[in-house]
Amino acid sequence: MTHANQMHLPGQPHMAYRDGALWVEQVALSELARQYGTPLFVYSQAAIIAALADYQAGLAGRRARICYAMKANPALGVIRILAAAGCGFDIVSGGELQRVVAAGGQASTVIFSGVGKTRAEMRMALEAGIACFNVESEAELDVLNEVALSTGLRAPVSIRVNPNVDPQTHPYISTGLKGNKFGIAHERALATYQRAASMAGLRVVGVDCHIGSQITQEAPYMDAMDRMLDLVEAIEAAGIPITHIDFGGGLGINYNGERPPSAASLWPKLLEKLDARGFGAHQLLLEPGRSLVGNAGVCVTEVLYLKPGETKNFCIVDAAMNDLPRPALYQAYHAIVPLRPRSQAATVWEVVGPVCESGDWLGHERALALSSGDLLAVLSAGAYCMSMASNYNSRGRAAEVLVSGSSARLIRSRETIDDQLRCELRALGD
Ligand code: LLP
Repeated sequence: MTHANQMHLPGQPHMAYRDGALWVEQVALSELARQYGTPLFVYSQAAIIAALADYQAGLAGRRARICYAMKANPALGVIRILAAAGCGFDIVSGGELQRVVAAGGQASTVIFSGVGKTRAEMRMALEAGIACFNVESEAELDVLNEVALSTGLRAPVSIRVNPNVDPQTHPYISTGLKGNKFGIAHERALATYQRAASMAGLRVVGVDCHIGSQITQEAPYMDAMDRMLDLVEAIEAAGIPITHIDFGGGLGINYNGERPPSAASLWPKLLEKLDARGFGAHQLLLEPGRSLVGNAGVCVTEVLYLKPGETKNFCIVDAAMNDLPRPALYQAYHAIVPLRPRSQAATVWEVVGPVCESGDWLGHERALALSSGDLLAVLSAGAYCMSMASNYNSRGRAAEVLVSGSSARLIRSRETIDDQLRCELRALGD
């Protein structure tokens, strides 16, 4: 729909100011805040589908499967959209597998990553019939073999290889360097594949890597691909056929003017390399998380108090580090914009939450014209926000709404104190 008085937010094509108010698709955010309260996460279905379409365009004509890394946002309402659009899922726990199943997704499209899979989780995933275990250590290989033999099933495996390339991102979210806990060192990989191929409970199906998250450059992907293809060549030369190559996820998004390559432009370049080296016929798997959902979501929060001070002005909002932990954890930047911009001159604010810690901030030095009671939107909040939310300070986790066109649907109701107390009262026998 076109609208006379409309202004899109940079990098957020599904969001616009219309007649002075902020909308997601065809729904006014203030209306959702009124109906469901704040803090409130709101996701745009069109933005999720558009992000997926970007990958599908980049991989057009290929035998490829996109396995959404659901740790980014495991809401059943989000998983349903992605399953219906043809995605598989990258999981890191038994709980995530149960979410896929609860959302009506197919276990046969699931790959299982993570350094600490338990025997119980392995058994559950084997019995559900997942597509692949991405094994992260030699010790895990032994345990998976034992579990598979004891269930009478053969576990399909890839080994996650640590290609030792620098993703040039925040140290907490770079995962493919030698000093990280993830994967098996590139130099050990061939020997590990030979061991895996000799184990009766395992069936080698692929190779896997994941070098980090919020990657905004092409070069780390190009380097990782070269390193991985060297390895596939060596594994196949050793007589172990490889069915799929999994390049992980990690593509960054625009939080604050970053310009990561789009999946539609990055993948043709990577595929060219794949073809040039003769691996174009292998099935490809990808594990994107953030780039599918990150910019599809916002967190709406209300200004509770304005507290001007001698050195800093504090704007205290009702969302906090328990709702949006990325600023406190990684000093991450999230843009913060008013739902209804005011015409007065802006003041510089520290935007902080109600939690009793100085680390509870959402934005430093933000120029905003504000009054208490105003509503703000924290942008790029679709990935690693609600999924990392906690009950710190006994705060209930926020509600979530999915917008599609002019309709808005509650996909998670606000957590109540009864929800929070249930496990304790049960344990206490009260
Ligand atoms: N595959 C594996 C094995 C992973 O460990 C991850 C993310 C992904 C895929 C998806 O990566 P993505 O496409 O979302 O970058 N909480 C941090 C991000 C942690 C990423 C952990 N692994 C943040 O908020 O920035």
